[in-house]
Amino acid sequence: MTPAGAALPAGISLRRRLVWQFLVLSLLLVVALFFTVRFAAERASRASQDAVLGAAVISVGDGIRAVDDGLELDLPHATFSMLGAMGQERIFYSLAIGSRLVTGYEGLPPPPEVPGDLSPVFWSADYRASRLRLAAITRRVLLDNRMAEIVVVLGQTRYGQAAIARDTARSAVWIGLGFLLLAVPVALFAARAVIRPVDRLAAAVTRRGPQDLRPVRDPTPRELVPLVGALNGFIARLRGALQLAETFIFEAAHRIRTPLSLVRNEAEMALAETSDEATRQRLRRMVRAIGESSRSANQILDHAMVLYRSDQFAAAPFDLAALTASVLRAVAPLAEMRDIEIAAQGLDRPCPLHGDERMIEVALRNILDNALKYSASEGRITLRLYQADGMAHLSVQDAGRGLAKGDSDLTGRFRRGSNVGDVVGSGLGLTIVREVAAAHGGSFDLRPGPEKGACATLSLALP
Ligand SMILES: Nc1ncnc2c1ncn2[C@@H]1O[C@H](COP(=O)(O)OP(=O)(O)O)[C@@H](O)[C@H]1O
Ligand SMILES: [Mg+2]
Repeated sequence: MTPAGAALPAGISLRRRLVWQFLVLSLLLVVALFFTVRFAAERASRASQDAVLGAAVISVGDGIRAVDDGLELDLPHATFSMLGAMGQERIFYSLAIGSRLVTGYEGLPPPPEVPGDLSPVFWSADYRASRLRLAAITRRVLLDNRMAEIVVVLGQTRYGQAAIARDTARSAVWIGLGFLLLAVPVALFAARAVIRPVDRLAAAVTRRGPQDLRPVRDPTPRELVPLVGALNGFIARLRGALQLAETFIFEAAHRIRTPLSLVRNEAEMALAETSDEATRQRLRRMVRAIGESSRSANQILDHAMVLYRSDQFAAAPFDLAALTASVLRAVAPLAEMRDIEIAAQGLDRPCPLHGDERMIEVALRNILDNALKYSASEGRITLRLYQADGMAHLSVQDAGRGLAKGDSDLTGRFRRGSNVGDVVGSGLGLTIVREVAAAHGGSFDLRPGPEKGACATLSLALP
């Protein structure tokens, strides 16, 4: 029996992946929020400041008047202080007719197009190592009886505006990071909620006993339906295979054992009736071969049966003392034939156990079969049933050839001792015993006897 889901290689964790995806996405959103807010804040404040700058350049234009000996400019101070109100901004202006500077700063960047006289033209340019936002309009003035076009340019640094946009964007990032912090528990919770149906399904499947081969009908999330469908397909196939194995084991037992013993009987009868020595020899060889093959067929079938039943383990209460007595009765004729005496101790009081009686019976038969097989004729076998340390121990001690030195772990499949070449055997007997013990959570031990022979002990837990 293998423990369910023992050593599956665990791949990526879905839960961790979900949380990471959620967090990375949130982080991207925070970065996007920063740039969006910064862009929007910059645009909004530029538009409002452009309006102020436009109004200012118009009011500067309005302050130009033609007087007798030329032009007079009334610089509107209120306008200038309004422009500087946003922060420590620097302000530049110039009045020019054509390419001739009338007054103001020299070399201010020219407008990209000729400005009209009502709506100002706006542009940005570098001047004296500062980034300026500029506005310009054209004023028409009658000068020396001629219409002169005066271009008024007003420029302003925008340090304050940039700082405000930066601050706004920074607050947006802090808010975003706050949300991110909130998002962590939310992501964990969401991931758990997504995984929970999977866990529930796994628990439902794990809870089943080994005999429960009904299809899985627990509520399943839609995405897992294909998986559960495949699982149910597997279960159905397993059920089919088990049924096949069961049929095979029980049918084969029936159809191989019976004809073999029939053939053997016939051969033995023929042997008794024949006096021709050559034929008798041949018949004797035949009887021996049939005996060997019936023995190994039996063991192979027993082994298959034990494997099948340990997988479908169905435990029930039974009395080990009574079972042992009945197995002893079954092997008695064989022992008698070889003049072997079997002494049993401890079978007079019941020894209630919990397990698969059929399997234990097969194990006992194999232990006794070995003890008889490897005993000399007229030998003695001592069987003891006793309880100690919460276990029932059944020891079978013979006075036969014993174990050869250097033979270790004789319970392996098809493993036989190095001193038993002259005795027929398949090497499956102790494998069966070991598997029966393991299926019952017990143990089996084979060691040399105190003087000679071997001592086999089967230990099973008491209920
Ligand atoms: N009572 C015993 N006395 C001596 N050797 C034994 C005894 N029981 C088991 N063995 C050794 O253990 C080996 C494995 O036993 P088993 O699996 O029953 O195979 P088989 O009996 O078919 O050889 C035997 O071949 C034998 O060498
Ligand atoms: Mg054997």
